[in-house]
Amino acid sequence: MNDFIYYTPTKVIFGKGSETKVGALIKEQKGTKVLLHYGGGSARRSGLLARIEDSLSEAGIAYTELGGVVPNPRLSLVREGIELCKKENVDFILAVGGGSVIDSAKAIGYGVYHGGDVWDFYNFKRTPEGCLPIGAVLTIAAAGSEMSDSSVITNDETWEKRGVNSNYCRVKFAVMNPELTLTLPAYQTACGCADILMHTMERYFNHGDNMELTDGIAEALMRTVIKNAKILVKEPENYNARAEVMWAGSLSHNGLTGCGTDGGDWATHKFEHEIGAMFDVAHGAGLTAIWGSWARYVCDARLDRFVKFAENVLGIAPRADAAETARAGIEAMEDFYREIGMPVSLTELGIAPTDAQIEKLADQCVASTRDNLGKVRHLAKEDMIAIYQAAR
Ligand code: NZQ
Ligand code: ZN
Repeated sequence: MNDFIYYTPTKVIFGKGSETKVGALIKEQKGTKVLLHYGGGSARRSGLLARIEDSLSEAGIAYTELGGVVPNPRLSLVREGIELCKKENVDFILAVGGGSVIDSAKAIGYGVYHGGDVWDFYNFKRTPEGCLPIGAVLTIAAAGSEMSDSSVITNDETWEKRGVNSNYCRVKFAVMNPELTLTLPAYQTACGCADILMHTMERYFNHGDNMELTDGIAEALMRTVIKNAKILVKEPENYNARAEVMWAGSLSHNGLTGCGTDGGDWATHKFEHEIGAMFDVAHGAGLTAIWGSWARYVCDARLDRFVKFAENVLGIAPRADAAETARAGIEAMEDFYREIGMPVSLTELGIAPTDAQIEKLADQCVASTRDNLGKVRHLAKEDMIAIYQAAR
């Protein structure tokens, strides 16, 4: 077991109707002027924004609004948000949406706190030293940004997608009402389940010591998400399945499933971030399109973890040969992705990168990780190219 720090300061308010408490929650945080930040329209159409505006008004909290966050949230809107917050003397940001809106709010929070060019934090030039306080009303179980230390932004001048991690951006409170996810298209629900799984899988597949308890939590989380993702394909209105997935989404990315391990691999995420920057795909679908190719490429380097995953998460009976068990697990995972409507290749994702584009994707992976990608196995540029090519 490795030493670790587990820091998860976010207050969670979980359950039906919880969004009506936001006014009181912001008051508790001493917020006086709020930026209400949201996406492309789903929160307005469902009536959620109106309920939140009422809650703010009832609590006597002034607010200004900035909508229009898109999936793979853009730096240009972040810059707009920073200017708006300065002009309106905003002291608290309320993100209403999914990972994209919350990540955009975190970037705005960094920009307002520090001044200067906010992209510096995403480009290794500066390290955050603070952030405006943020609250979240979650409308999609997926990215886990409501409890993570991460913000991922796409620079729409250079088309780079980059993340920055710091505890300063951790959300003060996360309001999670599973009913708010009932309006999600089936594809987005499935993308979310895929991303939730991957946040634990990235931590589970590592190359060093692990911790029995953490492995048990991780395996239970993965089994729960797989089971309930299948239920949601057939019964999208099943509240309990939505609730299980929503809570799993937060626990999967707040650090819990990595305690005492030697750190996560994160290669699949990096591969997806570059695909997302170049082709603007949904994050969860980009992950499932590349994961099998990565898994087959690296599994021999940590066969025992892949066998454990196959047996304990996917219920594969041990085969005579451990490598066979591991590969059966990878295939079973891909069958699951297909069952929930997720792609297992770049073609199924709807993209056909050329050789030159694959080389560029690999170059970007090297640059954004400073050539330090992969825990199960370090991946150099030629490995990345091979994995992208095999995923076609
Ligand atoms: O913009 P609206 O109209 O709200 O539509 C959104 C969007 O089109 C829609 N949606 C959300 N809630 C809805 C809804 N539609 C109907 N009903 C609802 N209740 O869903 C679409 C996707 O939303 P988005 O916020 O993009 O999804 P997600 O939570 O998957 O976030 C993806 C982003 O998070 C990043 C990803 O890279 C991607 O940019 N990630 C952030 C992480 C973090 N901060 O910790 C970790 C992740 O690994 C990930 O990289
Ligand atoms: Zn993710």
